[in-house]
This record gives sequence, structure tokens and C-alpha cells, in this order.
Amino acid sequence: MKKLYGIYLQIFWSLLGLKNEKGFSTKSVHAGEFIEKESGAVIVPIYQTSTFLYPREDKPEAESYIYTRIRNPTLEAAEKKIAALEGAEAGLVFSSGLSAIHATLSYFLKPGDHIIYINDVYGGTEVQLKLLEKYGIERTQVIIESDFDALLDAIRENTKLIYFETPTNPLLRITDIKEVAKIAKEHGIITVVDNTFATPINQQPLLLGIDVVVHSVTKYLNGHSDIIGGAIVGPANYMSEMLQLRRAFGGIMDPFAGFLLLRGMKTLAVRMAMHNKNGMAIAEFLEDHPKIERVYYPGLTSHISHEIAKKQMRGYGGMVSFEVKGNAEETYHFMKNLKIATIAVSLGLFHK
Ligand SMILES: Cc1ncc(COP(=O)(O)O)c(C=O)c1O
Repeated sequence: MKKLYGIYLQIFWSLLGLKNEKGFSTKSVHAGEFIEKESGAVIVPIYQTSTFLYPREDKPEAESYIYTRIRNPTLEAAEKKIAALEGAEAGLVFSSGLSAIHATLSYFLKPGDHIIYINDVYGGTEVQLKLLEKYGIERTQVIIESDFDALLDAIRENTKLIYFETPTNPLLRITDIKEVAKIAKEHGIITVVDNTFATPINQQPLLLGIDVVVHSVTKYLNGHSDIIGGAIVGPANYMSEMLQLRRAFGGIMDPFAGFLLLRGMKTLAVRMAMHNKNGMAIAEFLEDHPKIERVYYPGLTSHISHEIAKKQMRGYGGMVSFEVKGNAEETYHFMKNLKIATIAVSLGLFHK
């Protein structure tokens, strides 16, 4: 009888189109978590160990932990949580966002390949992309947004990868993810999106056709200004091969940072809801302010790509860029007189 009731319940959910799919708040809290068997601890412990008992008599090598540069249970819990939130098959964490980006680029690119990337990428990413020249990788920078002619013009025989952020750092430009993914697929090109600014709560590029998503988890995902970290999510076959690259290059996250990341992500959905609300309120306030020249926020109808943003995002985040009316000195004066905001680099933190 109980079994029958369960089947009816499943049919009911399926009819509603919900298919037992868990919401973002539930995934933020529960995905990837496990109860440690020995003690029954309800929080995933920090497996602060460099090495593990190996070989094990009770486990095959493929299932064993060997050495933390390869795999670690605390980090795997964080990887599963990020993958669940992004709708990915698997994920990997790294010692920084740039380390995750480096692993992704070195996995896909080889000498003689060509990469197209959006203008207005994060400065550190651009430095890295320029360094690729040293390894014989050609690059073209284009403004994509909705100008697909520029993108099509840039595609060559040897184009292997299209890399972009949306929204971008710092000008919050928006690119139509679905369109770029479609063009790339037609040309057999891999797509990589840096989803740091949106987070999976506001946008899931993999579900729009993108191959791999990278993150600086230093920002919203951890959200508490106390770690540096990165992540990659995507298909399981890519992730298992990239794990071998991470093992070879040694860019894995530290277990303590992994623990803080796991804790930070538990509140991701609620933090993002508040960031979205506050970001919109500040953008609207600044847009109407006589001393503000221009506001860049994808949630504003005045934003050049608002319609695209509306189509692919569920919220617009807590980052607002704007220009103060006046010269550099007056702008500096404005910054110096801010009462609550902290003047510092980074973003997506609870106290900005
Ligand atoms: C969009 C974006 N991607 C990547 C990075 C690099 O991340 P990390 O500082 O964790 O290496 C940053 C850093 O600000 C960023 O803003």
C-alpha cells in the first residue's frame, strides 16, 4: 500500500512538472553533504590530511583516497554541491579561480589552436590568456553581446574554444549564452563560461548549451571573504580527465578552504536573493541621482542588453558599476566619503 502511495505521489509530481527536482535552497544546504560514519557528525569534517591509508584491503584502488593532491573527501563534498547547483554531472575545486581557468585552458588547448574571448574579461584572466602566446596559442578578442557577426568573423579553421563571462567584470556586459553555444556547436567549438558574477542561482550556462563552467569561488559561492578558490563543472568525462591534470599540476584546494566553502555555500540561495534585491535597489537609486553619470546594471531597463539578461537570468546580482559625474579627483572624494562600503578588491561578499 505504502509503495502504491509512493508511485501515485511520483506521478502527481511528474504531472506538475516538478519531477522531484530539488530547489536551489535545498541543494545549497544538502547537495554533496554526508554523515561521517565513525562519529555521526552532521557536518562534513575537515579531512586535514595529506595522505590516506593505502593500499586498502577493503577497497579497490579506484575508490580509495590516496593523497590530497589527487582527491579529498571534504573537497569532494564541495565539488558535488557546486555540480548539483550548476546542473552539472561533476565538478572539481582548485586553489584559486585563475588556477581553475588555467586547468580548463590547458586541458582544451594545444599549440596551433585559436581561442576567441570576449573583451571585458576579468583582468587576471586576460593576463593568463595573453601568456598563452608563449605556448603557440593564437587569440582574438571580440565584443560578443548580441553582435554575432563579429563572433562569426573571428572563427577560423583552428578555433578550438570560445571563452566568455556574462555578466562581465567590471562593466556587467551581457552575452546571449544560448546563441553563442549554438554558433559554437555548429562550428565544432568548445564553449567555456565564467559564471562567477551570476552564480548558478541566477544563471545556469550548462543548461543553455555551454560545455564547461568555471568559477572564482572566492566570490559569491563562498561569500565570506575568507578563502581563495576556484571550480570547474561540466560533463563527467571532461572532469575525470581534468582531475588527472589537476593531479599533475598540483592546483587543488586546501581541505580547510574546502570546509569554509561548503559552509559558505549552504547560504548561497538566501544570500543571492538578498544580493539581487539590494543590487536592484542601489542601481535604481543611482540611476535617478543627479550626481551620477551612468549606471551599468543588467536589471535596469536602460541596460543595453537588459532583454537578453531577462531571458537567461533569474536575478541580476549584487554588483553595480557606475560613473560619478566629475573628474578623477571628485570620484576619489566620493569614494573616500563612503560610510559603509569597504574600499577593496574582490566582490560577492556579504559585507560589501
Ligand atoms: C570573474 C572573475 N573570474 C575569475 C577571477 C579570478 O579568481 P581568483 O581571484 O579566485 O583567482 C576573478 C577575480 O576577481 C573574477 O572576478
